[in-house]
Amino acid sequence: MGQSTIHWVDEVGRGVGKVGHFLQREGLESAGGHLASFLPWYLKNRVRNVALPFEQNVWGRADGRAQMPRFITIKPTFRCNLRCGFCRYVVNGQVFGKSDYFLDNEWLDLIDEVAPHKPYISITGGEPLLYPKIGELLERIASHGLYATMVTNATLLERKAEVLMEAPPKIIQISIDGPKDTHDEMRAVDGTFEKAEAGLAKLMEIKKRKRSSSPLVVINSVISGRNYRGMPEMAKVAEKLGANVLNFQHFWFMTPSMLDAHNNQWGECFPVTEEEIGTTQTEGVNVDELWEIMKHVEKTAKIPVTFYPGLSKEELEIYYNQPEKMVRNRTPGCAWLQTAIFPNGDVSPCFDHVVGNIRDSSFMDIWQGEKFRAHRMRLAQHGAYSLCSRCCVYYRYD
Ligand SMILES: C[S@@+](CC[C@H](N)C(=O)[O-])C[C@H]1O[C@@H](n2cnc3c(N)ncnc32)[C@H](O)[C@@H]1O
Ligand code: SF4
Ligand code: SF4
Repeated sequence: MGQSTIHWVDEVGRGVGKVGHFLQREGLESAGGHLASFLPWYLKNRVRNVALPFEQNVWGRADGRAQMPRFITIKPTFRCNLRCGFCRYVVNGQVFGKSDYFLDNEWLDLIDEVAPHKPYISITGGEPLLYPKIGELLERIASHGLYATMVTNATLLERKAEVLMEAPPKIIQISIDGPKDTHDEMRAVDGTFEKAEAGLAKLMEIKKRKRSSSPLVVINSVISGRNYRGMPEMAKVAEKLGANVLNFQHFWFMTPSMLDAHNNQWGECFPVTEEEIGTTQTEGVNVDELWEIMKHVEKTAKIPVTFYPGLSKEELEIYYNQPEKMVRNRTPGCAWLQTAIFPNGDVSPCFDHVVGNIRDSSFMDIWQGEKFRAHRMRLAQHGAYSLCSRCCVYYRYD
């Protein structure tokens, strides 16, 4: 069996395994409403993933075309009310509103345009609940039957929960990194935990009142040297808050040497600077200890626990101790499956690499446009960038 066939079989196996895992751990009571609609969509996407090497190596190399995006990430604002030290938008100053912009009908037009292709819409930021028209955006997404997911620090959730529940996203990811003191310290603003707790309680109350299965509540907890020993306690916090799932997010590194390596190879067509990108690192993670803690939490938590990316112990060792080294070296699928769109309408498939703007052209023209295709062809022909090694999108195939 060839390497790529093994990869395909592995992908299919992993997909089936994950669905089974999800069914078993989620329990039909809480997940039933989701699974009925989620499963066909999930399986369709798995097939797309399995066929991805074909898409990359045939069209990808020839002219960089792609099928329709599987998901589109909308960042309605980069501004944020928190100052997390591990967040590159704090490091590069975006959270202070230095390039802020609120699009209006453009987001709605975008949703109308892409709706026939059924991508899911991932809403993040910055802090997306700072966007004044978040309710309208969610309503427009729901009106086309598209799935929305949202990542939020939840500090404004108590105020926005009613609006959100008019057209709830399928999944809401609430960022909480530990019990009160740890969370407030990591988020660098006192009172953050309590606000998120109150917001989540309000959301749960409305969800119950409306007998809605959406949103599925996932607590997303960043693992860093500061908090990893508190993961078992974090599981208890997530249980108490009533989360459906607890996801531990491995740290995304962006080190100066990754930027140097990238510029040495791609500086001509896609240069990156420390000021624009924002570097992030964590220290003090003992991988043997982290692994033991992960296994312990998985076994003892009363709600489903996932880790993203899912890594073996050997991979975890490389992930934390050699951030510049690829964990699974392959052509990243990101450029064929997704893109992000910034608050000013810039379409950016990779960090700050802009390939068009939805205020100037239709999304589809940009998706199959010259700059986007050039980006895909670079990846298809040369493989991963150094920036890919700890980029969240690199691992996002499910
Ligand atoms: C950039 S934030 C935007 C949404 C919102 N402001 C929030 O914090 O939930 C999206 C997610 O990325 C996580 N995140 C930010 N920096 C990270 C890093 N260096 N490593 C891992 N996760 C990170 C946040 O905790 C959050 O869950
Ligand atoms: S809340 Fe989110 S966007 Fe804001 S600083 Fe923290 S991680 Fe960054
Ligand atoms: S750094 Fe790599 S994985 Fe991340 S978005 Fe860019 S090409 Fe994709």
